[in-house]
Amino acid sequence: MHIYRSALLRFADDGQALYEEDGLLAVAPGADGRERVLAAGSWQALSAPLLAQAGAEAVVEHLPGRIIAPGFVDMHIHYPQTDVIGSPASGLLPWLNDYTFPHESRFVDAGYAGEVAHFFVDELLRNGVTTALTFATSHPASADALFAEAQKRQMRLITGKVLQDRHSPDGVRDETAQSLIDTEALIRRWHGVDRLGYAITPRFAPTSTDAQLRGAGELAARYGDVWIQSHVAENLDEMAWVRELFPDSRSYLQVYADRGLMRERAVYAHCIHLDDRDRALMHETRTAAAVSPTSNLFLASGFFDYAKADAAQMLYGLASDVGGGTSFSPFRTMLAAYFVGREGRDKQGLSLAPSHLWWQHTAGAAKALGLPGVVGNLQPGCEADFVVLNPQATPLIARKTAQAGNLEELLFSLIVLGDDRLIERSHIAQKAG
Ligand code: GUN
Ligand code: ZN
Repeated sequence: MHIYRSALLRFADDGQALYEEDGLLAVAPGADGRERVLAAGSWQALSAPLLAQAGAEAVVEHLPGRIIAPGFVDMHIHYPQTDVIGSPASGLLPWLNDYTFPHESRFVDAGYAGEVAHFFVDELLRNGVTTALTFATSHPASADALFAEAQKRQMRLITGKVLQDRHSPDGVRDETAQSLIDTEALIRRWHGVDRLGYAITPRFAPTSTDAQLRGAGELAARYGDVWIQSHVAENLDEMAWVRELFPDSRSYLQVYADRGLMRERAVYAHCIHLDDRDRALMHETRTAAAVSPTSNLFLASGFFDYAKADAAQMLYGLASDVGGGTSFSPFRTMLAAYFVGREGRDKQGLSLAPSHLWWQHTAGAAKALGLPGVVGNLQPGCEADFVVLNPQATPLIARKTAQAGNLEELLFSLIVLGDDRLIERSHIAQKAG
């Protein structure tokens, strides 16, 4: 048993933040050998009985001045766009055509994909992200490369080969029947192996034929516990294009619904330009939104409507959407989400609570992914993925956090001023043996 003593942040089932200034986190192998949280709470209440129980086997690690918090969960990111970050364009569609598709064509080379996958996972961990739902490219080898890399690090990670059989240039366009054969082969090879999961990944409705979308929906029905990921209602030009391509569909979201692509474990990035019927459909089907604020600000896509999402009881969580998104850091994403929440001309403006922003990137994201109580939290039974934060990381963060009068003030100081320098360590739950 490994017992950590430091400040400790975690979440109750209702999303309320729980914080111990002098906290204890006890980690031990579960029945499957994977490190899990055995106990979490106050040092004073828990240490004596745990130390008595563990005897000489207990390793106690004291981390004075540090905060242990759940590893961050990124609900939507593109690993092949690691080098596309910061590519300027007038909007989504030119950005895809001018930068993203040409770059993604390079992932036909498995060696290149492996090199990027290695860098990408390092960068996730450097930023405190311990679980991600990520796009690969249309090349099956790109998914193999990332699965292999995540497996090496023992991470809980979900990815999938992109499906895009039309309106895509040579080099990234796939072929309808083969793309579905490749998807099924990848599901069988990787889904449920160690901590890996497969996501059926139609890029977005404009780049898939009806046959490819329907084939994806059929696979989603046959493999009920794999994930589905795509994009929806991000940009107004994209909305107009979908109306042209699918004139019989009531809405963009309905295109996916009609093809079996909305269900638990389906995750749609953006969800900006939805109407109330779409939001009700999200709720009824337990489909989740991956809110991607740095991307939406960078590409001027619009503002996720938190008030309407909450009114509809939609599932959602935070995502970087790198490389449309501008940072791997959950702190940058949470701050951008705060700005998006504030925006009050296109929609109702809100001031989101810091603990709610943090929840959206940890326990809330895990819940939206269908992984509550597995990752994104540090309650007993959770897999022991966590970060150690160092509030002394910069002079300004040290000065500001020292003045925090309560938990919300502390968390907001970290969100506003934090970046990768705050992450002293990312711990991935290891498997014994
Ligand atoms: N829509 C279709 N593909 C993409 C992508 O790669 N990034 C974003 N942000 N939106 C998309
Ligand atoms: Zn995306």
